[in-house]
Parts: sequence; structure tokens; C-alpha cells
Amino acid sequence: MRLNSALASSFSFVPIVLAGWFHEVPWAGAVLSEGNEGTYTAAIGSFNVPSASGDHGMTIVVGIGGRGVECDIAFAAGIDVLVYGNVVSYVGWATWGAQTVTPLKFDISQGDIIRAGVYVYSTTTGSALLENLTNGEAWWEFFITDEPMVCQRSAEWVVTPLANYLPRVPTEIPIPKFSEVTFLNATAEIAGGAYVTPGPGGAYIINNIEYNNIPLTTGTVYKDTVVIASTM
Ligand SMILES: *[C@@H]1O[C@H](CO)[C@@H](O)[C@H](O)[C@H]1NC(C)=O
Ligand SMILES: *[C@@H]1O[C@H](CO)[C@@H](O)[C@H](O)[C@H]1NC(C)=O
Repeated sequence: MRLNSALASSFSFVPIVLAGWFHEVPWAGAVLSEGNEGTYTAAIGSFNVPSASGDHGMTIVVGIGGRGVECDIAFAAGIDVLVYGNVVSYVGWATWGAQTVTPLKFDISQGDIIRAGVYVYSTTTGSALLENLTNGEAWWEFFITDEPMVCQRSAEWVVTPLANYLPRVPTEIPIPKFSEVTFLNATAEIAGGAYVTPGPGGAYIINNIEYNNIPLTTGTVYKDTVVIASTM
């Protein structure tokens, strides 16, 4: 069930990406990491919008950042899947550093295929894309920051718990049960113009969403395909 927009706006959710999001929240998915600043200039991938049940929500994201290095600046685009009882709603967003933007007219439904991408033009400018591949509807957001984008050290295609949820209630399961999320055409551009894919061998799979030491997700990577499944 989707919220209509009037109902949705009565919830006080906002996306949800805080400074430090890439560090503080456990991830499942694939990460390409080179370690050098300025390595990645774009990351792109298409994913299906899953069904979900349980509490409270999850995030599906394509991004460029600094996982595993000292860097709190993430440049990312994706969706939040918000679960309240039997109601599931989906909110698109893009973020760069302290700026997070939600498209006003970009409804998302379960089963849609969404292309998400981030494109770095300079250390202070870039664009984020969300596109409904089924009907071609696209949302672009152009970012200009004061803070230089110095963390182009990794590219990622991941699922995370909602950033504003963890770790406030550590006795609760941090992520809902969800139908499999498959990223297709996952590619990253590296400075100089070459394209790389997360597989085979390039990316590491991370899978650290767990509860009581039990993994809640599994990740698999093929060439340009990343599959993340719920074990619940
Ligand atoms: C993946 O890329 C191929 C080749 O460019 C294209 O035909 C296909 O529509 C893309 N699919 C998705 C889901 O992005
Ligand atoms: C995406 O496109 C499909 C096919 O036209 C449509 O059914 C779906 O509602 C679209 N999603 C949104 C959110 O507009």
C-alpha cells in the first residue's frame, strides 16, 4: 500500500541522511574502493523497488564516498523505504555533504525500476539522477557545495537501515524484511573516463547488517549486478 501525498506529508519523516551516514550505519552490498582521493567521478545503477514489512525502514543507494577512510562526505542518490505498520511508502532523495534534496514530483511505487546515479563535475559541483526506467520520468538535481568533494575514494551499491533510526533502539531488528533488491548495470566511472564494474573481483561485498550476531542480509556480486537479499 502506498501513501498518497497528502497522507505522506502528515508524517514528519524527512530523508534522513546525516553527516557521517556512511560511517555510522551498517551496509549490505558492494563497494569498490581504491583509496585515493578523486578516483571515482560517477556511480550509476538501476534497482527494483522492493516490498517490505516489519519496522521501520531501509535505504537503497548508489553513491560515491569514503567508506573505510576518514571522510564524512557522501554523494549519493537513492530511496528510503519507510514502513509504518502495514503502510509502506517510498521517498527519493539525493545528498551531498550537508545538503539533502527530495524531489517534489517523483512518486515511487513498489515494482518500479529506478536508475540512480551521481556524477562529479568538479570538487564542488555535481549532479544526481533518479529515473523511472519504466516510463522515462527523470529527476536531476545539481549540487554546488562550499565544501570540496574530496572523498571520491569509493563507489557503492548498497542497502542500509535508515540512518536516523540506528542505533537508538538496539534491541530492535534494524531493517525490515524486504524482497530481493537487484542492482543492474552497476558501473562507476574513474577519473580519466574508464568505466569499472563491481565484479568480478573488484568490489568487496559487505554484509554487516545483523541482529544478535545473526546476518539479516546476504550480498552477491556478478559483473555489473549486485543482489541483496533479506534472510528474515
Ligand atoms: C542495462 O543496460 C542495457 C544496455 O545499455 C540496457 O539495454 C538496459 O535497458 C539496462 N537495464 C537497466 C535496468 O538499467
Ligand atoms: C514508473 O513507470 C511505470 C510505467 O509507466 C508506472 O506504472 C509507474 O507508476 C511509474 N512510477 C511512478 C512513480 O511514476
